[in-house]
Amino acid sequence: MDSRPIGIFDSGVGGLTVVKEVMNNLAGESIVYFGDTARVPYGSKSKQTVTRFSAQIIRFLLSQDVKAIIIACNTVSSNSIEELREMFPDIPMVEVVGPGVHMALRTTRSGKIGVVGTQATIASHKYPELLIEQNEALEVYGKACPLFVPLVEDGWANHNVAFEVVAEYLKPLLEKNIDSLILGCTHYPMLTHTIKKVVGDQVELINPAEEAAKRMEDILVKNNMTSDDEKPEYKFYVSDSEERFKEMAQIFLHKPIEHIATVPIEEY
Ligand code: DGL
Repeated sequence: MDSRPIGIFDSGVGGLTVVKEVMNNLAGESIVYFGDTARVPYGSKSKQTVTRFSAQIIRFLLSQDVKAIIIACNTVSSNSIEELREMFPDIPMVEVVGPGVHMALRTTRSGKIGVVGTQATIASHKYPELLIEQNEALEVYGKACPLFVPLVEDGWANHNVAFEVVAEYLKPLLEKNIDSLILGCTHYPMLTHTIKKVVGDQVELINPAEEAAKRMEDILVKNNMTSDDEKPEYKFYVSDSEERFKEMAQIFLHKPIEHIATVPIEEY
């Protein structure tokens, strides 16, 4: 038993899609979440910057005595995971690209898989690389969708404008007859309703957060580090705009956010 919290971080509100999975599936675990709201988006930044920001966040999470970390951000997972594992070898870390790949391999029938993500995630080629490593016959089509994040951050996920934007970005992938679409960015599951309207029933949507929560559970079980706290604590930290984050988090998680604070993350 280990009642210390799990640390989860992302560039902004998107990582709440991972928080939700952990709350639902690892109900006894406390969580410390950090959203880098002052420096979002990460998806248009260089690998060096993304790694530096992530290292600061991990140092902050370690100062909060977390027992393990989920890197909820696909941009960080696809660009910086090797460096971060090297820098912090002692803390168990789960990222989200491996879990997304695993789910897509299970889901696809035709072998035609689409991946949507930020510019940095798509440019890293991490998803196609790992998928094709498992099965050379797969056809993987990536598409950067930079407008999805601001649509979500501004609360426009279910608006007609979102439908138009999603339809335009996904057109080339649908033309390839994909049967599975990896939502390779934490924000995108918040657009699920709109994406489903665009892709219809023939394309399975893959949210890597589901498998990432399972991987975390496996690690905790294997190391005797689970917690079955009846009243787990959820603490949220941001680098800017507490109120805005709180509002979005309460709507998305359907829970009151009782603990939220701003952290001067550049000092870590
Ligand atoms: N959270 C990031 C990701 O999963 C997307 C948002 C950003 O560009 O910072 O890739």
